[in-house]
Amino acid sequence: MRVVLLGAPGAGKGTQCKRIVAQYGLLHLSSGDILRQERAAGTELGRKAQSYMDSGALVPDELIVEMMAAAISKAPGGGYVLDGFPRTANQAEQLDKSLAERGQKIDVVLNLEVNDETVARRITGRRSCPQCGAVYHVENMKPKLEGKCDYEGADLVQRPDDSLEVVMNRLKTYHDQTRPVVNYYKKNATVYDIDADKDVDEIEALIFERLDACASVQG
Ligand code: AP5
Repeated sequence: MRVVLLGAPGAGKGTQCKRIVAQYGLLHLSSGDILRQERAAGTELGRKAQSYMDSGALVPDELIVEMMAAAISKAPGGGYVLDGFPRTANQAEQLDKSLAERGQKIDVVLNLEVNDETVARRITGRRSCPQCGAVYHVENMKPKLEGKCDYEGADLVQRPDDSLEVVMNRLKTYHDQTRPVVNYYKKNATVYDIDADKDVDEIEALIFERLDACASVQG
């Protein structure tokens, strides 16, 4: 199954992707995570992406499309869930084109819908483990011991682009450049809108219902 998970920053894409991966055995391909790995490794791509990410702007399409095409080409046959990509209508068109060349297509698009106030609350309260990447929230998903990862015991950190100022820019970027991707897919694929202003388990149930239906059609 090839799945695209769309949604505003902080909609819960990463949180739900971990659950989708555990349930369906798909590969999780997050453009944001790959970019952060490139930055940490000090690659040319990571250096080029840095200023865009820090300001809440999008990294140019040509860099992203090439990076994600490489990641997708290494994915095993069982399928994948794309998180944070595509993020412009142009990226979506390029993705469809490269899949079509291999006789493939996106099977289902899940669009997490959440209001801007929820986004601001979720993102500014997000903390993560620098060692294992586990994600917490200071109010909604607290670690067992304040400020420490449940698995590694490491001090939790805040992403540099999770300040309120940058979140506002990321939201504007989302409304201007990424919302059109939903309209693109509504014309070209099967899209399900999911109310993501709910509890994590309730959202998971809505997503699994859709993915179970998709998996049964595929046999
Ligand atoms: P990226 O890393 O993709 O960031 P994003 O899309 O802004 O998404 P986030 O990771 O912030 O949020 P999420 O939806 O995964 O939420 P999460 O589950 O963590 O991109 C970063 C940057 O990279 C971009 O700004 C851009 O510069 C660049 N980039 C990436 N892809 C690109 C592309 N394709 N093209 C160009 N540039 C690109 O949840 C958030 C918090 O809320 C957590 O604390 C979580 O615990 C909590 N939470 C989650 N769900 C719930 C819930 N239901 N109830 C309560 N709390 C919840």
